[in-house]
Amino acid sequence: MAELAGISRDGAVAVITIDNPPVNALSVPLLPALNHSIGSLEESPEVKAIVLIGAGRTFIAGADIRGFQDMIEAGGSGDPGLNPLFERIENCPKPVIAAIHGSALGGGLELAMACHYRVAVAGAQVGQPEVKLGLLPGAGGTQRLPRLAGIPEALAMCTTGAPRSASDALSLGILDQIIDGDLRAGAVTFARDRIADGPRRTCAIRDKLVSIDAAVFNAARRDAAKRDRNQIAPLLVVESIENATRLPFNEALAREAELFRQALFSPQAKALIRGFFGEREVARIPFAKDAPVLPVRTAAVVGAGTMGGGIAMALANAGIPVLLREADQAALDRGLNTIRRNYGSAVSKGRLTREVADQRIALITPVLSYDRFREADLIIEAVFENAAVKKAVFEELDRAARADAILATNTSTLDIDEIASATSRPASVIGMHFFSPAHIMRMLEVVRGRATSDTTLMTVMATGKRLGKIAVLAGNCAGFIANRVYFAGQREAERVVELGATPQAVDAALFDFGLAMGPLATDDLIGLDVCRDIRSELSRRGTLATEMMIEDRLLEAGRRGQKSGAGWYRYDENRRANTDPEVDRIIDDHRRSLGINPREFTPDEIVERFIYPMVNEGARLLEEGHALRAVDIDMVFIHGFGFPAYRGGPMFYADSMGLPHVRERLLAFGHQPAQLLDRLAGEKRAFNSVGTYQN
Ligand code: CAA
Ligand code: NAI
Repeated sequence: MAELAGISRDGAVAVITIDNPPVNALSVPLLPALNHSIGSLEESPEVKAIVLIGAGRTFIAGADIRGFQDMIEAGGSGDPGLNPLFERIENCPKPVIAAIHGSALGGGLELAMACHYRVAVAGAQVGQPEVKLGLLPGAGGTQRLPRLAGIPEALAMCTTGAPRSASDALSLGILDQIIDGDLRAGAVTFARDRIADGPRRTCAIRDKLVSIDAAVFNAARRDAAKRDRNQIAPLLVVESIENATRLPFNEALAREAELFRQALFSPQAKALIRGFFGEREVARIPFAKDAPVLPVRTAAVVGAGTMGGGIAMALANAGIPVLLREADQAALDRGLNTIRRNYGSAVSKGRLTREVADQRIALITPVLSYDRFREADLIIEAVFENAAVKKAVFEELDRAARADAILATNTSTLDIDEIASATSRPASVIGMHFFSPAHIMRMLEVVRGRATSDTTLMTVMATGKRLGKIAVLAGNCAGFIANRVYFAGQREAERVVELGATPQAVDAALFDFGLAMGPLATDDLIGLDVCRDIRSELSRRGTLATEMMIEDRLLEAGRRGQKSGAGWYRYDENRRANTDPEVDRIIDDHRRSLGINPREFTPDEIVERFIYPMVNEGARLLEEGHALRAVDIDMVFIHGFGFPAYRGGPMFYADSMGLPHVRERLLAFGHQPAQLLDRLAGEKRAFNSVGTYQN
């Protein structure tokens, strides 16, 4: 027990060091250890004050999320078991000081707020991120934080989950002091100075709470409903913080615990908690885990168009110097201007200081030749989506790059093996499929060709992490994971329009389901010409039927989507979508050509028709081994396509609806269920139960 919460002494001050790697989560074994250490110090007459500090890289990253997952799966009380411990700390007759480095998040901040004082190093952060897991602070956060920082700030922190820096936390009253230099020594000095003042209980400070206008809570509810459409946790947070103004502390705390349980056992928390671990799980590639990772000190990008410019920014944002090559000066100037404009807008929105933006721009070196490409450890090609053009570039790269450099392509559909065949080093060739805008979107599909080495793969996975991306391994099949699965759903969304629904009804049903944007509006954003090219590549490689679609007719009418001002919708100068009678005429003509008598669709059927074919295609990817796990597919859709995280991704959603039901609906829609789906439905199992290579 002693090691989890070991005690050391510095005169009259005792220091409890919480040592529960990797992030000192408040796990089941840690709580009694901490309780025991506090108890023994309460009784020790020589100890006059107590410092609580974390070992390793951080203070406490919260309650143990794995423990919550187990409770959801196996059932349980839904009680993190923290309140009795925090009450003990709060009632301790000696001042208790939390000494924070790294993060004090969730239960970690709640513990710190139950302490009588809080000090931190300048680089620390504090926050209540539970809402991102579909939860609310479950151990006093909604009661103590408003008392320390005020209701508006507590609402902001707990409904968004956004952390605060140490300096902000100091000015908000969450921290009492920033410690320069050694944290332990500074905290001990701070504690010694507080011995005469004695304990100061946060929950006893009530005066700040009485006179708040109820309109604040209604506004917070409205904001949450808009920002976090369909989600319950942010609303429960508001309710619990409002309780701080109308119930005595202990009653409000008991109500917080009830609301916490309500959130914890909701499907949304289940999906979001699985997503938290999913984001980390996708980085694990069992067959390559021991491969050495090469250093990436300098990178190069070929093509400074939409994607190349964004990729160069993503590299510069991570502090990696990058050579950016274009075919001619005019294209290079255009690319650099866009990069400067993007950084300029980040500065004007207050997201970046001018100084940092300038440092990042300085990391990007524009070039017109491959002369300096020998400096690059990783080269990413982002020229036009054309196999011949890309192969010509790879032939040049093969000559220009060092033998140990990695050559990556940002192709969204082309065959990696064919591109690799243009080089003498296919083991070093790989796909890095960034999503647009590449400096913002977190998804990165990493596409492994037949010859790609494990070192190439793991170096690129590690680089993805450095860039702040969620890198997911995909096999080299047509469309990889993202486009192959998306276009299976997109095809069916169009079919629903063919059969009678309006484009607006399709997009509205899926927007209401939680997608960031309906699929037809998404196509307008991608560009209907780009969608057609992707579909024809999928058809050429046999994973999508070739047929005349409404989108082909829209294209024939010159409607290429947002960029041409018209696609499925007509766009005004503010890019707002409006319905267009010409589209109705095109749809009518298309229906007539197919002899279709239009019928109505309910929003539920529209959702099923879009999602289940995607699930079916996802099942095929798993069957073929082109995706490692169901969660990999789900992460691609959450972080690449705006699929609602609180529904867990298409595969998790299918699991939650039950695979026998999904199979039945697919048959009703005229789709042949994938073998894996058939088998799992028969065995009453879920995709989530299919481990790597066990399918
Ligand atoms: N519980 C269990 N495991 C956790 C954890 C937690 N609270 N926080 C992190 N971990 C695990 C991660 O899963 C990861 O495990 P693997 O190495 O096996 O993948 C490991 O710790 C390291 O985490 P990261 O890779 O995320 O490390 P990082 O340095 O990039 O980030 C961090 C550190 C900022 C603390 C980040 O881990 C994080 O944001 N953690 C979650 C914080 C959080 O949501 N806390 C609230 C918990 S709910 C709660 O506390 C409810 C309540 O009110 C009682
Ligand atoms: P783009 O047309 O905006 O940019 C391509 C750039 O490459 C042009 O600026 C062109 O001058 C330059 N170029 C062509 N040949 C070159 C050469 N030999 N050397 C240097 N530069 C050269 O195209 P975009 O949209 O950036 O696409 C690039 C790649 O990214 C394509 O493979 C595309 O499929 C892929 N992609 C595009 C996405 C998007 O949303 N636009 C999303 C994901 C991938």
